[in-house]
Amino acid sequence: MKKKLVQLVTTSFKEKFNAEPAHIFLSPGRINIIGEHVDYNDGFVLPAAINKYVCFAVSETENGECNLYAKDLDESYSFNLNDDIKPVEQMWVNFFLGVLYQLKERGFAMKGFNISFSSTVPMGAGLSSSAAVECGFGYALNKIFNLGLTKQDIALIGQKAEHTFVGVNCGIMDQFASVFGKKNHVIKLDCNTLEYEYHKADFKDYALLLLDSKVKHTHLTSGYNDRRNEVEKGLAILKEHYPEVKTFRDLNEEQVTAVKEQLGDVIYRRCLFVVREIQRVLDAVAALEDQDFVKLGELMYKTHDGLSKNYEVSCEEIDFLVDAVRNDENVIGSRMMGGGFGGCSINLVKKEAVDGLIERVSKEYKEKYNITLKAYKVKVAKGTTIYKEQHAGI
Ligand code: GLA
Repeated sequence: MKKKLVQLVTTSFKEKFNAEPAHIFLSPGRINIIGEHVDYNDGFVLPAAINKYVCFAVSETENGECNLYAKDLDESYSFNLNDDIKPVEQMWVNFFLGVLYQLKERGFAMKGFNISFSSTVPMGAGLSSSAAVECGFGYALNKIFNLGLTKQDIALIGQKAEHTFVGVNCGIMDQFASVFGKKNHVIKLDCNTLEYEYHKADFKDYALLLLDSKVKHTHLTSGYNDRRNEVEKGLAILKEHYPEVKTFRDLNEEQVTAVKEQLGDVIYRRCLFVVREIQRVLDAVAALEDQDFVKLGELMYKTHDGLSKNYEVSCEEIDFLVDAVRNDENVIGSRMMGGGFGGCSINLVKKEAVDGLIERVSKEYKEKYNITLKAYKVKVAKGTTIYKEQHAGI
């Protein structure tokens, strides 16, 4: 599948620019085992890069000429490196321009480039296709123009691009996972310090299965930014009561509940979710280390219920998908994944039961919503990488 994607992008580059691309890059989407909506709340997360990629074919140009070609949309965008860089209407272009703006701001000397790209990361499905584009592009420019950026710089630049040119006030999880992904490993990331450690993504008899509700979302309009504002307000109130508290990590459930009245019902429930979720990630890492997958699965269900009822970022269709597997003995954990308001559920399913489960849930989902469910049997893969230094035709 990877090879096919590389071939497709290479061919599209040749057709568009009448030359072989000098470099090929691959940048993956991500899953998250647990730790949702806590990356921007100084919590821990447990994501991993997956074997779905945005692929870029790239060559340098002279005179600052920059040409982008989105193969999947059959859309192009051209500009000059020396132009003033501002957000534009074509949203996909902003992922590139946002990164470029950050690099120019930091004073890096670069040349122009031709790029063709295509993706097997589905868009708006909660698998971080945008982070994959931002990080893949940043990684490519870093390699080609020897900018000397670290992986962490690339992730942070991607996140900044999202804040400034896309308008989504996201945390660091997606970009970090895309760049730091390691084959067969999940990343336990401390979103406060950006310290991280890898843990084996070996679920023994269980497989990871994503069920795509096909309910599309963009976090520009989804309510994502509202949630950030709500928890910010909540934390400010909590700090007034507990002057020693710096982040949500310093709080426990009892402390949050003691201030319930001052927080008000909505903000109270948001804060309660955050404090519980931060603890759940730590418990989940311990369960993973102990190979206690039943425990891990229970935590996933609890996360889902918190996201659905207290943080209120799920939607009817995703709740349906989680409820459809809740009492299935072959499924030990299920929850909505990513920013929410649509996208995928992530499930831990007995390996031999995966196909049967897809068949059953697809049928039920079709009957209920008349939507054809998509299922992804994902593998945990390596982060953003160069595919071939000198590309000599595949
Ligand atoms: C989106 C954001 C991430 C994170 C998740 C929710 O994917 O980009 O930073 O907040 O939602 O966990």
